[in-house]
Amino acid sequence: MLNNVRKSFISGVAIVLLLPVGINSAAATNEPKSALEVKPLDERYEDSFTIGAAVEPYQLEGKDAEVLKHHYNSIVAENVMKPINIQPEEGKFNFEQADKIVKFAKENDMDLRFHTLVWHSQVPEWFFLDKNGKPMADETDPKQREKNKQLLLKRLEKHIKTIVQRYKDDIDSWDVVNEVIDEYAPNGKGLRESPWYKITGTDYIKVAFETARKYAGENAKLYINDYNTEVEPKRTYLYNLVKELLEQGVPIDGVGHQSHIQIGWPTLQETEDSINLFASLGLDNQITELDVSLYGWPPRPAYPTYADIPKEKFQAQADRYNALFELYERLDDKISNVTFWGVADNHTWLDDRAEQYNDGVGKDAPFVFDPDYNVKLAYWAIID
Ligand code: XIL
Repeated sequence: MLNNVRKSFISGVAIVLLLPVGINSAAATNEPKSALEVKPLDERYEDSFTIGAAVEPYQLEGKDAEVLKHHYNSIVAENVMKPINIQPEEGKFNFEQADKIVKFAKENDMDLRFHTLVWHSQVPEWFFLDKNGKPMADETDPKQREKNKQLLLKRLEKHIKTIVQRYKDDIDSWDVVNEVIDEYAPNGKGLRESPWYKITGTDYIKVAFETARKYAGENAKLYINDYNTEVEPKRTYLYNLVKELLEQGVPIDGVGHQSHIQIGWPTLQETEDSINLFASLGLDNQITELDVSLYGWPPRPAYPTYADIPKEKFQAQADRYNALFELYERLDDKISNVTFWGVADNHTWLDDRAEQYNDGVGKDAPFVFDPDYNVKLAYWAIID
């Protein structure tokens, strides 16, 4: 790292000396460099793990597609494989958008993650309504509750079976369940009290993994995915659940660490401990939704536009990326994939959050490519 900084500094000086008088030297050294002209990220990390990006179908064309092909050897759908997109109405499966992503991955020889078979968010209401249209979670009669539970588990099995049968030869890793831990859950065990949980207890998790295994086969890689997996007490709640499920023979292969993180949070030590903790159960780890926000939580105040973000902020972010990828690389026998939750700073879900908390005006910049697909300091930090 230091060597490279010095080298580029020296060459920067050389350029300045060669420039005709009158040309701004700062502009010359800060010349934007296209992501397409620099060493591919996936090549840099090919001995360690695959490098992924989350995509919307519209990003499979144009500049996004070029950058995807150049830098990434793995992709995941940002939205179109979620329950509400795939089965918006009972029995009406909609694979059109998801198929586009599968096709792109195949054509470009990329790995594909499936996100996500089960979640409490972006899931249609119908899953949780009984035959009379009443919310199952409100049912008080024990007999009817048991019937509801069986009906919901049957719907879950059918959802998973239909998807897995269609895509089993295309998907390398499956997010089977997403965000089942809630450290604030009233049950005190960190089990998120979603309709899934209220109606089935933890059986929905077991049935989801067992059904995925049954139809995807022994070689499929099955993940339990969550955010803040580094931080206590969430980390321990997740660990306890996974350990118990493994003891019961539930087929879990790995933990997906979403990694929606910040420049100063969580600590590297927490990140390392979390990966080692789950590896100690014999599990793989994947970094599934990486973005490094410029802000704390909530993201307030936020810079109104990209141009307002100061250079020091980008430098701090680059230092963070540097440390993070050094850690990932050191732990690479325990990590099989690192996926960014987007391609470049022109499209990130974090903007919605920045806007939401700042009266509609706020920009985040969590990736290593800028909104024009030029490399950021963060790119140089992780490529050397
Ligand atoms: C987000 C998408 O990025 C948004 O476009 C959508 O509006 C909401 O979901 N954790 C997850 C992802 O597991 O599915 C979420 O994706 C981000 C947080």
